[in-house]
Amino acid sequence: MHSLQCVLQVQRSLRWGPMASVSWLSLRMCMAHSSLSSTTCPNPERQEDGARKDFSSRLATGPTLQYFLRSASAPQEKLSSEVEDPPPYLMMDELLGRQRKVYLETYGCQMNVNDTEIAWSILQKSGYLRTSNLQEADVILLVTCSIREKAEQTIWNRLHQLKALKTRRLRSRVPLRIGILGCMAERLKEEILNREKMVDVLAGPDAYRDLPRLLAVAESGQQAANVLLSLDETYADVMPVQTSPSATSAFVSIMRGCDNMCTYCIVPFTRGRERSRPVASILEEVRKLSEQVLQLIHERDNVCKQIHLPAQSGSSRVLEAMRRGYSREAYVELVHHIRESIPGVSLSSDFIAGFCGETEEDHVQTVSLLREVQYNMGFLFAYSMRQKTRAYHRLKDDVPEEVKLRRLEELITVFREEATKANQTAVGCTQLVLVEGLSKRSAADLCGRNDGNLKVIFPDAEMEDVSNPGLRVRAQPGDYVLVQITSAGSQTLKGHVLCRTTLKDSSAYC
Ligand code: 5AD
Repeated sequence: MHSLQCVLQVQRSLRWGPMASVSWLSLRMCMAHSSLSSTTCPNPERQEDGARKDFSSRLATGPTLQYFLRSASAPQEKLSSEVEDPPPYLMMDELLGRQRKVYLETYGCQMNVNDTEIAWSILQKSGYLRTSNLQEADVILLVTCSIREKAEQTIWNRLHQLKALKTRRLRSRVPLRIGILGCMAERLKEEILNREKMVDVLAGPDAYRDLPRLLAVAESGQQAANVLLSLDETYADVMPVQTSPSATSAFVSIMRGCDNMCTYCIVPFTRGRERSRPVASILEEVRKLSEQVLQLIHERDNVCKQIHLPAQSGSSRVLEAMRRGYSREAYVELVHHIRESIPGVSLSSDFIAGFCGETEEDHVQTVSLLREVQYNMGFLFAYSMRQKTRAYHRLKDDVPEEVKLRRLEELITVFREEATKANQTAVGCTQLVLVEGLSKRSAADLCGRNDGNLKVIFPDAEMEDVSNPGLRVRAQPGDYVLVQITSAGSQTLKGHVLCRTTLKDSSAYC
């Protein structure tokens, strides 16, 4: 029985079409030597009760010999996003988390932080809930590290604490299940199950998709393990979920495993062969993250609504010569998408006039992009060739200096016209301004930034404080003030201050 389960797992792990013969070889070796690779280890202490009761009925409804023979035929190419049929010895609803609460604890490297999110993403889809409170957990999973002895010792110590928690668990609650995930599960395999009988589940770094099944087996009172390493598992289709509201970073994993075999290092043995995630799935994840960033900018008042999108040129031909990786059309599409996602967003950009090979027609294209997008801020430069760059080695700096300067002047003029038009829509509006300090030009004026990160200049005058009616104050750096905009240029807005306020008290004006 164990070997047969193992066959199913290996098929899942080695599903490369061209590798079929290798897969078969590994498969047979695995059947012969490694029944632990994916197995359920009966725990004699628990087995007596519940689990055997319905054994006969399960046998009757379970898979036939034909099922396994069919399943063990040559591995078929299969997309990792395809949903696997549940193993026939588990009913579909047994694979569900049924609102059980999972507590995940991460040790070690950034890969483990990412793996925790992958494991959670898989369990969440299976109907588990997540908790950050150890006491209310039904399942505790440690994502472990084996890199140095001390790392493992920390986890053994933690397991002893958890053992106490498990023993103290009230009988009225569902039994607490404990799982060891990641590198330590991979390195020590059954040693963990033997040494710490209270460990219910072992899952190596390539076995997280199997977690719902392993936990379902554990639910019936057996220990369950899958420590098979894979040649192709990258969890490409599993989007890690970021749950911590205070998280300031998110990882996009692009590869797994390591083939370096540094003489001191365990990683190639715990994480397996090096494999890269398909580029398309990396891009998809980055796209989703970018969407989240746009969403955040849109909904949070304390994040200013400004995005810098350096275009460099409006000509697809020049963009290609620059190796920018996008065309004018793709850039414009992105601008539209951002404007739809964040209404009123302020856009800024960088442009280079007179790059190698830039023709008059290319320049006209840049002018038309400036008109089309109507940036609120711009940084425009004449091209100067720099040693060591690719352009220095491969291209010719063939636009004469005076032409570069003339084109730059034209770009500046067009940018100013458009920015002035865009900024003038603010005249007459009341805007929330974050005060930065004295204006550079006049000590009688203060300078701050509006929600589009545009400079706003206003006289340093006494004003009312919304939080303390009756109190007259002067604005200090860091204060929020409401400013009535009276005029607008291409780089700054001018106005007069109405009152000091707070982010909370002020809602968006204009
Ligand atoms: N010549 C002119 N402008 C350049 N930039 C970068 N390199 C050069 C160069 N060799 C500009 C680009 C970039 C900004 C920081 O400086 O527009 O976005």
